[in-house]
Amino acid sequence: MEYLFSHMVNSMHAEDVKLLMKQSSGKSMISFAGGMPNNDIFPLKQIDDIYNTLPDNLKKLCFQYGPTSGYPPFVNTINEYLKKKGLPVADNRLLITTGSLQAISIITQEFVNKGDIILTENPCFVGALTVFETYGAEIHGIPVDKDGIDIDALKQKIAGLKQTPKFLYVTPNYHNPAGIIYSPERKKALLEVLSGTGIILLEDDAYSELYFNEDEKHLTKPMISYEAKSVEIIYTGSFSKILGPGFRLGYMLSSPEINEKAESVKQALDACTSSFMQILANEFMVQGKLYPYLEFLRKEYAERKDMIQKYLVKYMPKEITWNEPKGGFYIWLKLPENIKSTDVFKESVKKGVVFVTGRTFDPMGRKDDCLRLSFSNMPKESIEEGVRILSETIKKVLIH
Ligand SMILES: Cc1ncc(COP(=O)(O)O)c(C=O)c1O
Repeated sequence: MEYLFSHMVNSMHAEDVKLLMKQSSGKSMISFAGGMPNNDIFPLKQIDDIYNTLPDNLKKLCFQYGPTSGYPPFVNTINEYLKKKGLPVADNRLLITTGSLQAISIITQEFVNKGDIILTENPCFVGALTVFETYGAEIHGIPVDKDGIDIDALKQKIAGLKQTPKFLYVTPNYHNPAGIIYSPERKKALLEVLSGTGIILLEDDAYSELYFNEDEKHLTKPMISYEAKSVEIIYTGSFSKILGPGFRLGYMLSSPEINEKAESVKQALDACTSSFMQILANEFMVQGKLYPYLEFLRKEYAERKDMIQKYLVKYMPKEITWNEPKGGFYIWLKLPENIKSTDVFKESVKKGVVFVTGRTFDPMGRKDDCLRLSFSNMPKESIEEGVRILSETIKKVLIH
């Protein structure tokens, strides 16, 4: 039977994402592919204790539908948490979403008609690319360097377009996949460029809690806190890299008008985010378990980053370069011009090591001179062996 699928299912990057999810869970491989925490670090005991000591009335609420905007005590808790981070919660409204990818999807449905333009970074988080493609957006990628989006390239792009882009999507803190954090100067310059253009800034902040050094915490200050009056900013956050992606908890902070329409879109999508997960996460936060857990996570990921950095220095051929990350989950390796990450992948998978190819994160699916290594998910004991095998593979591809 020939199925008459809708245009929406034709996202170029969707197949990449499916493959990525499969590779990430493959048991027999050393996987640098998965951008998620390792199963052994989840707070099992704390969550057991929380559920077991919940009063029956709250346990019953766990099983129930809730308001589309979110479980009210959880909305309050997130508001307080974001206020403490310096975000302008009083002027904005919060919507709890089923992961922050849902927030990206809601915002896209709210603003984007087929053929509308969305600006992204290049490279860009592939999940967002899939959403933008699904809704028929025309995506224009702007290059990123070690300090953030290329400001001149962004200016030129905006000046050269006949149509005003609906929004610019960026991940300024511990970028997926580039591993970088925007410098404060670059954040300011970006806001200046957008000022008065009517282009909304979609600021995706899934990783800002995961800085490796307390002294650099101030660098994670989100742009929505910069009080740029003439730039409309929608801010998204996630619990996936903190409590775990299985919670499927995210949120978006936006103007009341954007929030109101976003709630209608969400109503049609899934009515509400799981009450169960919101109640558990809320208790985790109000019982004061979040901050100690974050401290534990920062140490854990810093240790993993130190390990992978050490082994990359030890084993990688000199032609391979990268920026040492200051937080988050990812290292972005730059290959010499003459080799493609897809070719490295074909060889390394035979040797039992997987990662994500550079072209996966290019809005056009072409640029393939980098590869993403995630150090968050694999057992620590496998990091050295994985880097060694990958280095050998790259050396082999370099010679051919
Ligand atoms: C930059 C970025 N934004 C959003 C997400 C999606 O997170 P969630 O699980 O909250 O949907 C991810 C997950 O990898 C991510 O890397």
